[in-house]
Amino acid sequence: MTDRLHLNLFTMNSVEHVSPGSWTYPGDRSTEYTDTDYWTEIARTAERGGFDAVFFADVRGVYDVYGGDRDVAVERAIQTPANDPQLVVPAMAAATEELGFAVTRSTTYTHPYQLAREFSTLDHLTDGRIAINVVTSYLQSAAENLGLDERMDKETRYDRADEFLDVCYALWEDSWEDDAVVRDREANRYTDPEKVHGIGHEGEHFSVPGPHGCEPSPQRTPVVYQAGSSDRGREFAAANAEAVFASQPTEEGVREYMEDVRSRAEAYGRDPESLRFFIGVVPIVGETQAIAEAKRDEYTRHVDVEGTLALLSGFLDMDLSELDPDQQVEHIETDAIQGTMNAFTKSQPDRSWTVREVAEFCGLGTTSPTVVGTPEVVADELQYWHEEVGVHGFNVKEVVRPDTLTDFVDLVVPELRERGLVPPAGDDRPGDTLRERLLGEGQRRLRADHPARRSGN
Ligand SMILES: Cc1cc2nc3c(=O)[nH]c(=O)nc-3n(C[C@H](O)[C@H](O)[C@H](O)COP(=O)(O)O)c2cc1C
Repeated sequence: MTDRLHLNLFTMNSVEHVSPGSWTYPGDRSTEYTDTDYWTEIARTAERGGFDAVFFADVRGVYDVYGGDRDVAVERAIQTPANDPQLVVPAMAAATEELGFAVTRSTTYTHPYQLAREFSTLDHLTDGRIAINVVTSYLQSAAENLGLDERMDKETRYDRADEFLDVCYALWEDSWEDDAVVRDREANRYTDPEKVHGIGHEGEHFSVPGPHGCEPSPQRTPVVYQAGSSDRGREFAAANAEAVFASQPTEEGVREYMEDVRSRAEAYGRDPESLRFFIGVVPIVGETQAIAEAKRDEYTRHVDVEGTLALLSGFLDMDLSELDPDQQVEHIETDAIQGTMNAFTKSQPDRSWTVREVAEFCGLGTTSPTVVGTPEVVADELQYWHEEVGVHGFNVKEVVRPDTLTDFVDLVVPELRERGLVPPAGDDRPGDTLRERLLGEGQRRLRADHPARRSGN
């Protein structure tokens, strides 16, 4: 694979995301997450560094599994407090021209008509630079906050997600014909009503007659991101995702994941080569190896091990405070995030991990590999994953904000540009939309082989 690699900044509209304790590092600015200026500056930096998108994680609810209450999570700002990610997007889009935005949304606690409207609006306001990361949510506390007695089991969540996307696809793709909007002032005819259609959806979870309330946006359907790792999650990714987040920590795990999701995608009639695979990476970079390692050591001193256990207890839906820190982690099938479990069990059958080791490893960016070194060392590693393993891009996970991003942009990106892996600043883009950036020129719309298009939408 010799084409360019893709970059997402993986962040959250919160103090802490995946590196608990990092906000205590001197100079960390994540406490400014409530300021518009913080986000517009992040957007400009990411764009300067040739990033394709800022990718926002999001959860509803608090991490209250660890110790049976929310005290540790709330005290240590473990993904709480967190503001709504999509509301900062228009300001970030206004500050940039090319950068995309991937926003995590759950299909479990909203309605597809409402969500379709929000993303059409965002696609209009960003001129086609929007993606949705589709999740089904894993926190019990979220279910309770959003009107359920308990979290739906994973099968039911994915069943609902399937139908949810069917409704959204019909609204985005089917409802308004391309030439429905005529904008004829003289005739007082904005829209040709013959070309606007109801969708007549009657399903198990939703009843939506339509039509869609928004006129077609540049991409119509936002670019679909997904990070499912269980069997059902992979199936969902294969049917829907254009960009897939492979969270396996080992090379074999990533290879197996990509091969499996590609072959499932083929079974849905999709060209498996059209899927874009991303892995997470935590880059810690310095002008020399010694500087980078000193940074890593300093960051590690700020890792909040107990906060990390609180975060992981939510990911796994398993109270890690009940386990002896030196106890070996045993595989379980979880109704929460299977990928986090697999990372330390199935994906590494030859190695066993204790609870303490998992917490220490996950303190810097959770399950993704940390790459520590000079710009050349970091670029070598990314190039290896791209060219030898075949991943298309990286979700750059932050430790210190915004230093992880600025170090990467100022030190690693010039090296990647030198190697032709990131286009030069100001280079001609393949197109205006995020989908064209990821899939190539002329790909503003969902591909014709995507199930949403082939089902007649
Ligand atoms: C790396 C990674 C990042 C994720 N980010 C989010 C997120 O921001 N919000 C969320 O609710 N779920 C998130 N998830 C959860 C998944 O999208 C999925 O819903 C969950 O993993 C359960 O399905 P699975 O067991 O098939 O993976 C993430 C999962 C992974 C592996």
